[in-house]
Formats: sequence, C-alpha cells, structure tokens
Amino acid sequence: KALRKAVIAGNWKMNKTPAEAKELIEGIKPLVAGAGCDVVVCVPYVDLATALEATAGTNIGVGAENCHWEVSGAYTGEISANMLTAMGVKYVIIGHSERRTYFGETDVTVNKRVRAALDSGLTVILCVGEYLEQREQGITAELVAMQTKIALQGVSKDELSRVIIAYEPVWAIGTGKTATAEQANEVCAIIRETVKGLYDEAAANAMTIQYGGSMNAKNAAELLAQPDVDGGLIGGASLKPADFAEIVKAAT
Ligand code: G3P
Repeated sequence: KALRKAVIAGNWKMNKTPAEAKELIEGIKPLVAGAGCDVVVCVPYVDLATALEATAGTNIGVGAENCHWEVSGAYTGEISANMLTAMGVKYVIIGHSERRTYFGETDVTVNKRVRAALDSGLTVILCVGEYLEQREQGITAELVAMQTKIALQGVSKDELSRVIIAYEPVWAIGTGKTATAEQANEVCAIIRETVKGLYDEAAANAMTIQYGGSMNAKNAAELLAQPDVDGGLIGGASLKPADFAEIVKAAT
C-alpha cells in the first residue's frame, strides 16, 4: 500500500455554476496545499475552464465527469476526450453508476470511453459497483470482476498507470449509508485480484483503488486505513471545502 499513490477526487456531479466553481476551488486551495496525496476535482464541463484557471500552479488536478468515445463527429451534446486534453484537463470519470443507471451506459460503452480517454492521454477514474439487490443476491464479487474485465479490455499494462478504479457500491451513493471499512476493503481487494489475473502482481500492486459512497470527514480515516483502499471518490462532501480537506488529510 505504501508504494501506491493515494488519490482523493471530488465528483461534483451536476452542481455549481462557473462562478460557484471558482468560489469552491478558492475555498479548497489553501486547505489542501501541501497534501501528501493526489487531489483532484471532477467538475461539470461548463466549469472546466474556470477550474483549470483557478487551480493553475496548485497541487489540484482537474477532471471531467465523462467523455465520448469518438474523437469528433455527429454526436449532438457530447464532448470528446481530445477536447478535454486540448483544454488541459488531466482526469476523467468513466462509468459512474449515475451514467449507467440514468443514461444507458453499459460495460461495453464504458470500455469504449476508457479506450478513448487513454488514447487522448487522460487518466481514467473507472467506476464499478453493485446495486443493493446484487449484494443481497451474493453476486458482488462476480459483478465487479466482470465490470473491471470488460472496462479494461484492450488496455495495455503500460496504460494501467493512467487508470484508477473506484469501487462505488450504488446503495452507498448519496444515501449517507457507507459501506463498512471491511466491506469496502473486501471488494477493493477483489478488484485488485481481478487486475492481477488480467495483468500480473506488479500491476495489481501498483493500481490505485478508491472507495466511493458517502465518504465524509468522519468516516474517511477508517476507510482509508484499509490495506486495499487507496483513496476516495467523494460526492457530497467534495462540495464543502472543510470536509473535503479533512478527507484529504485522512489520506496522507
Ligand atoms: O462519485 C462519487 C459518488 O458517487 C459518491 O457520492 O455523495 O455518496 O459521496 P456521495
């Protein structure tokens, strides 16, 4: 674990106008300066330019929340990975459960987006995770392994250094219901085993695997202390500078 990079990333989802984004980043900046882990904010497309400007010269990386798999073309309303890199964006979330649930994202389209993002030079935060019904059915391990395998199809071992996997149990997202530290660690370890099976032990040991789902200032330390949890993907708490900074501190 000591060899892996801890990464705390905020996922702002559909929140904040550009003016509000500037205010939020100005609030976060001084609180996370000198952090011992990587700090990222993933923001709505319309906030990217503001976020890049506000974070210039700081330790905060900027990410988008999705991207399309084609470079350009007749895809009304979409944004390509190349457009993001051209702006200076470094990260992109792919396969968030909200995309899968509300926008018809499938494992196959997630894989295409992962490929496009890597081709354009972005670092991917790939989300996997089960619904409550699937956990109750006892198929969490199989499901996250399958999501991981399909998403990483065609990804080379070299490219893996630009892939972060976020385990986000859907039942824990935005619900205030966090997975226990043991549950989070268990599934992060399963994902690591899956990566080992696809590549090798070195690749698995180097992979940053985050937990996401109602992580907050109070529960972060316990979750992040788990051997296979290397960071967090933070929704609600990333919109509050003090809480986000507290989580960053817990990761370092
Ligand atoms: O991607 C982060 C996420 O889905 C968790 O959201 O609000 O439960 O921290 P939240």
